[in-house]
Amino acid sequence: MADVQKTFAQAPTIIRREDYSPPAWLVPDVALDFDLGLASTKVHARLDVRRNPDRADREPLRLKGDGITPLDVLVDGEKVNDWQMEDGDLILPLPADAHHVSITTDINPSDNTQLMGLFATNGMLCTQCEAEGFRRITFHPDRPDVLSRYTVRMEGDARTFPVLLSNGDLVEEGETENGRHYAVWNDPHLKPSYLFALVAGDLVVNRDHFTTMSGRKVDLGIFVREGDLERTGHAMTALKNSMKWDEETYGREYDLDIFNIVAVSDFNMGAMENKGLNIFNTRYILADPDTATDNDYDGIEGVVAHEYFHNWSGNRVTCRDWFQLSLKEGFTVLRDQQFSAHMGSEPVKRIEDVRILRAAQFPEDGGPLAHPIRPDSYMEISNFYTATIYNKGAEVIRMMLTMIGAERFRQGTDLYFDRHDGEAATCEDFVRAIEDGGKTDLTQFRRWYSEAGTPHVAATLSHQGDSAVLKLSQTKGAGTEEPAPSEMVIPLRIALFDRATGRNLREELVVLDAPEKTVSFDGFAEAPVLSINRGFSAPIILDSRRDPADLAFLSAHDDDPFSRFEAMQQLMIDHLVGAVSQDGAGDSGHAPLIVDSIAAALDEEGIGRAFLAEMVQPPAESFLGEQMLLIDPAAIHAERARLRTTLATSLQDRWQAHYDACAAIPFSLEPEARAARRLQTVALSYIAAADEDAGADLAFGQFEQANNMTQRLSALATLSHTQSPKREAALDIFYQRYREDALVLDKWFGLQALSLRGDTMEAVRALSQHPDFTLKNPNRVRSLYGSFTANQARFHDLSGEGYRMLADLILTLDGQNAQLAARFVPTLGRWRRFEEQRSAMMRAELERIADKPDLSKDTSEQVLKSLGR
Ligand code: TRP
Ligand code: ZN
Repeated sequence: MADVQKTFAQAPTIIRREDYSPPAWLVPDVALDFDLGLASTKVHARLDVRRNPDRADREPLRLKGDGITPLDVLVDGEKVNDWQMEDGDLILPLPADAHHVSITTDINPSDNTQLMGLFATNGMLCTQCEAEGFRRITFHPDRPDVLSRYTVRMEGDARTFPVLLSNGDLVEEGETENGRHYAVWNDPHLKPSYLFALVAGDLVVNRDHFTTMSGRKVDLGIFVREGDLERTGHAMTALKNSMKWDEETYGREYDLDIFNIVAVSDFNMGAMENKGLNIFNTRYILADPDTATDNDYDGIEGVVAHEYFHNWSGNRVTCRDWFQLSLKEGFTVLRDQQFSAHMGSEPVKRIEDVRILRAAQFPEDGGPLAHPIRPDSYMEISNFYTATIYNKGAEVIRMMLTMIGAERFRQGTDLYFDRHDGEAATCEDFVRAIEDGGKTDLTQFRRWYSEAGTPHVAATLSHQGDSAVLKLSQTKGAGTEEPAPSEMVIPLRIALFDRATGRNLREELVVLDAPEKTVSFDGFAEAPVLSINRGFSAPIILDSRRDPADLAFLSAHDDDPFSRFEAMQQLMIDHLVGAVSQDGAGDSGHAPLIVDSIAAALDEEGIGRAFLAEMVQPPAESFLGEQMLLIDPAAIHAERARLRTTLATSLQDRWQAHYDACAAIPFSLEPEARAARRLQTVALSYIAAADEDAGADLAFGQFEQANNMTQRLSALATLSHTQSPKREAALDIFYQRYREDALVLDKWFGLQALSLRGDTMEAVRALSQHPDFTLKNPNRVRSLYGSFTANQARFHDLSGEGYRMLADLILTLDGQNAQLAARFVPTLGRWRRFEEQRSAMMRAELERIADKPDLSKDTSEQVLKSLGR
């Protein structure tokens, strides 16, 4: 049966949080029987349905379906015909309060290009059910507050599908006839349908085990394609470390005898936390030094942990409805951030997390797609797997932790898990548990759940007599709107430094909970230097007209590494924003101060190399654009490049010295060696910025000699921006060497799309026609087009070609993989923020997309909202 694409004639229906009502029918038991085939899989579902005693009405049973038709429907073993279909759903009148409903469906996994529901990938079968994919497999209420016990039997050809996996415990397996075999899995835990998973295919497994804190042995398995087995070690280590960390930090123990992970190459997102059977994008599992960069290693560690942590924050306690998505995602992101900080460097991890927040979430929060971490309405829930729900959601919970401290926070989370275990909970339940367990009052703090937008905080420190007086005020107003007074609860970690000695004299947590607040600090004969929002204690934008000399002071003396980094960033932001608004009028800014401060950092004894690498890089062009009312990407790019050149030429010897010192360190995965590679990468890019030919030679040498992907790729990245003939040579060598390795080839595509060369637009167009390019693989699509849209200088070319290319992509992709297509819309959706010419072209492309008949619900929602309709 062909995949039925959901389309609509008018604007799609809006689902509202306030309309929530409990399910009319409960489904305590689900028994699924799969007759597996790549082109045809028959699904026999037996649902044990009961009227919800909490509901007095006598509604018929309504089971959600998406693109499926029932081959037959049985009630209590008897075939019935009085069912109806409505918008793809199955409606069945039922006389009594409890029945057995059996439904057979037939699906074609090979035709499933949406990668939701049951789909074929690389000759195997795999599922993705969150958020609403289960209804593409069989009819079911398919809402997260309907929890069931699942038994799954699957049968298929033993050679095509030697491995048969589902959630929970394997209770039976055996052979049938004609070379077929079967397996029966039973998951003893109640779960919502979105956590159901099935995998069938020819896979090899890395087996290990973990003994839990109560002494139970858990069998661990990571299933991959033949040939990938040697690249699963890092993921396995990350898994065991995650299991241990969650026991120690949150008191959470694993609750099944089996924990399996399967890696697949065609996957819409990073990974999925299905109970006892996580399914991963290969890019978050496979790693070895020859094919994965240090960043890839970190990504794997973080995502493996994230999915594992969902076992408690998401699975044992799940969401009542999808408006509560941040309940599991925000909390789980916080947990994975804490874990990664523990495994590596805490300040460097914080810097990275804040970079992501600013690059992805701040623009979202200031644009037409802004929404609170607990949204009030949506058209398509897939569009709400956003940086706001995930990353701002994590920041909001982190603020609670900052305000009440680790011990009380833990008492709060203990109470939360205890109180809501086995339930489908709300964000409100979480906040109340933190209040009750952590002994605090979060009444006003709850605004973070209901209000969108990033608060702006203005802070000024004055000196009167022997007091330092801190004046704070907060406002809110997305984009170009008039800012309005705001009443968020904003915890600001501050410190006051002695200007003469550089000593930290006073540290405090100031909670701003009114539009304005003044705090006095006594005992300061001299005016101290203010360090504020230390560790990024609140996800706000600080509007500070701060003395550049103070920023330089903090960049050298602040004892919070994050704040040192921030001070340096702010100094560069002030300079660059000033330079752009003066239309390139020259070096009236703080360039000399920046050069001196960076020189001092480069000369500092004992400064960590990973931290130093972060410190010396100017803020991203996208983030700089955010600081301006109207974005001119070309001007931003030119000024940022100019600052980079200044830093490159004035500190040339130092970059070379650091480069040499870092390059001399032999490869290992130890933190010291990794930090050296990080700094080496930055140093190399500065060397090339000062002298392109010398840089290209050095990079090519590094490229040829590298015995690991981090150094090979950073060399290639440096070359990719140059006009050097060595660039083509290196790209070709790389391609020939890795053409069979999809994940590495993704890097090859991505790097060329990120090139700052003037011909990148044409290169991207040519690469889209490359034999190895395909729209069927989300990783490949993201590697080419995702990278290109991140390339501010080239994507926003004044010809408007970039916008046209992106709109064409969205239009083509929409019928094939709507979820993926819709994810490219927000780039164009920011049209209002750009200068006139670009703005008009971006908007016109959105209009062109909106005009397409039969646009998916996913893309339609994003486009309509972007146009303000
Ligand atoms: N819940 C998953 C996570 O955060 C992500 C997820 C949601 C997902 N929907 C998906 C993954 C669709 C793949 C496809 O870990
Ligand atoms: Zn998640």
